[in-house]
Amino acid sequence: MKKFIVIGNPIKHSLSPNIHNFWFQSKKIKAIYEKKLIEQKDLPIIVEELKNEKISGVNVTVPFKKAIIPFLDELSISAKKVQSVNTVYKKNNKIVGDNTDIGGFEGALLHINYKVAGKKVLILGAGGVVTSLIYSLFNSGAGEITISNRTKTKSEAIKKIFTNIQIIDWGKVNEFDIIINATSLGLNSQDKIDLDYKKHNNKLFYDIIYNPSETYFLKKAKEAGNQTENGRLMFIYQAKLAFELWHDQKVEIDKDVVNLF
Ligand code: ATR
Repeated sequence: MKKFIVIGNPIKHSLSPNIHNFWFQSKKIKAIYEKKLIEQKDLPIIVEELKNEKISGVNVTVPFKKAIIPFLDELSISAKKVQSVNTVYKKNNKIVGDNTDIGGFEGALLHINYKVAGKKVLILGAGGVVTSLIYSLFNSGAGEITISNRTKTKSEAIKKIFTNIQIIDWGKVNEFDIIINATSLGLNSQDKIDLDYKKHNNKLFYDIIYNPSETYFLKKAKEAGNQTENGRLMFIYQAKLAFELWHDQKVEIDKDVVNLF
């Protein structure tokens, strides 16, 4: 039986096993998908297990999406550009790193029929997922992208990859059509992001967090009359793209899948 895993630290909240095992059942694929808590030093061991086919595919999550890169033989063009890998597998005897967060975010916005072309985007945070968001947004024709992060040097490191973005100080807000929370603020119920929520309406407030399903950021934005969306669809679409890379067959995102979470 083929084995797939998601690696990270922490990992216990990952829902990847739920979605992949659901598809294994519905597609009658003889495989199992598990989560595995690892340390940085375990990365070469995991890659070795892919080489000798003890494992057939790996999803990578926080904080190893960049750290795994030196152990891989090849990167997809997009994974190389954003320096972030979330899907790994063996192809033509090489261990390949790909990135389905980019397509996952694009899929999520397409699913809600949101047109990114020409829009002004403000991203809060500069963690591991932000380069993927920027790649996806520019690919969909975003007009302007600004990032704001507590630690400015991290924003500046991202600007070295995407030189056409703007940086503003943490706590400042510029004009936007979409604002994305890509910080970890909201994972805990007492977390707040201070914004003048009432100043905005008819904007899209997007939170990468999907558990809890409504963060303070989304709750306040909704109360002020804005469109809100959590990270659930992005999670589902990144899983779909990883599944399709590994199993060479398509899956549909229908109500059954969306309602799984
Ligand atoms: P990593 O930075 O290791 O990739 P992440 O979970 O992907 O981790 O990113 C966490 C993000 O949440 C970062 O942008 C972080 O800001 P810093 O770069 O300044 O650390 C942001 N974040 C976490 N706690 C925060 C807080 N209390 N206030 C503001 N931003 C916070």
